[in-house]
Amino acid sequence: MVYLTRRERFNAAHKLWVETWSEERNLQTFGKCANKNWHGHNYELFVTVKGMPDPETGFIVDVKKLSRLIKEVLLDQVDHSNLNMDVPFIPKGMQPTTENLVILFWKELEKHLEGCTLHCIKLCETENIYAEYYGEEG
Ligand code: NI
Repeated sequence: MVYLTRRERFNAAHKLWVETWSEERNLQTFGKCANKNWHGHNYELFVTVKGMPDPETGFIVDVKKLSRLIKEVLLDQVDHSNLNMDVPFIPKGMQPTTENLVILFWKELEKHLEGCTLHCIKLCETENIYAEYYGEEG
């Protein structure tokens, strides 16, 4: 099995906040991500698909098509957006954490992917923190 990864980048704002908590508790829990007036991240997204190379093309997927799909399905929705308010596939009230985003990104992309299998969605929020999802519930 061969694993192929496409890297993409986007920028978006968010706020992590629980309405029923005090400001102090929100700040203690979420740190800078609880900033009242929002803040942004420069996200790096890695989409990994798996398959065996086609005997004619040597590709497991046409990377141009994969890139176009990632752009249409994910990046056009999230780039330069407010993740709490603007993105149709992020449920209102769900914390837009890196952990939740990888699950939502998986579900959106998998619906449209043809000819290969999704293996991993990896999302880096900062250079030191990232989350990965392999499609397993629980
Ligand atoms: Ni943040």
